[in-house]
Amino acid sequence: MAEEGPSFGRRAGVRVLATLSAVIDSGGGGRGGMGAMVAGVPTRDDVERAGVWLAGRVVRTPVLRSPVIDAAAGVPVLLKAESLQRSGSYKVRGALRAVSRVAEGGAHPGVVCQSTGNHALAVAMAARDHGLGATVVLPADAPAGKVAKAREYGARVVLGGATAEERHVVVDEVRDRLGYAVVDAYDHPDVVAGQGTASLELLADADVDALVVPVGGGGGVAGACLAAEGRGVDVYGVEPVGCDSLARSLEAGRRTVVVPGVTLADGLRPSCVGRLPFEVVRDRLAGVVRVGDDAIAAAFRMLLLHAKLLVEPSGAAGLAGALSVAASGRYRSVGVVLTGGNVEPGVVARLLSGVDLEVAAS
Ligand SMILES: Cc1ncc(COP(=O)(O)O)c(C=O)c1O
Repeated sequence: MAEEGPSFGRRAGVRVLATLSAVIDSGGGGRGGMGAMVAGVPTRDDVERAGVWLAGRVVRTPVLRSPVIDAAAGVPVLLKAESLQRSGSYKVRGALRAVSRVAEGGAHPGVVCQSTGNHALAVAMAARDHGLGATVVLPADAPAGKVAKAREYGARVVLGGATAEERHVVVDEVRDRLGYAVVDAYDHPDVVAGQGTASLELLADADVDALVVPVGGGGGVAGACLAAEGRGVDVYGVEPVGCDSLARSLEAGRRTVVVPGVTLADGLRPSCVGRLPFEVVRDRLAGVVRVGDDAIAAAFRMLLLHAKLLVEPSGAAGLAGALSVAASGRYRSVGVVLTGGNVEPGVVARLLSGVDLEVAAS
């Protein structure tokens, strides 16, 4: 499917799409509430404090350029290579920050989370670092490599639940039975602040006036908005076509559930953007770009062949979106967070051969 141009949020006027999605509760409270004031929304200071704390605990990943990618974009594209991060993705930033606080508190013997994959790996690694137990709940069709790696880090893996909502039920059971602390994949202030440190580093190391971040539950893009605050940098989210809860939520003015469509980007399939992330981005984000599988696959190949980076499709979606943002002609140089590199060998083979792109159905 072809890539669509950016859909702009409140700052540039909202284009309303016809949608089959449901608008979720307007009453506030609980996991999905949006109507009431949202407590615990992190700030730019929280991202900066997380950056200081994480220094030396995570890899200061390089910001790279490729002449071929610059030429394709028409402007310099600055690639923050979080595919080279510990646990293979930027998710370790938020997980370490959140899990360390659980360890310091001393009230819980372990941590539990649900995830499409990378947050589970990050929590498993962070729990191991802190001597805590970990249970991670993954979809039954989670990539085998991510399941195996979570087990290698010492986590108990529970497979099941096609949707995040179904997996949350299992998470709550584990919390109640074992006394484990829940570390949400995006609705958690430390997770948002931690993910934001990838953007903070990119902005410290590169001169860009636009910053592009792939979106699942929205923790990374919310952190990016906070990191960029006051710097004159426009932040864009990228969602796969058909997995566009954030774009639809911005258009509707409230969090909106979608039934995630088929996408190569297995990390970008939550049915709804998180409560805290939405609160952060709703008045800060410059826009959302929807990208199709063909654009993600082309970005994946560009990164591997020209930047020499093995980036998973959810991260490559960031470059696909960045090329679209660059094509708008509004920016001098564009930064992109390449969020992860945990990709199955079979997917690499298929993407390089350019056939059989349909690997992830919800
Ligand atoms: C590689 C990768 N990129 C991006 C995301 C989306 O992150 P967030 O949920 O913070 O929006 C994920 C989520 O799992 C991911 O694994």
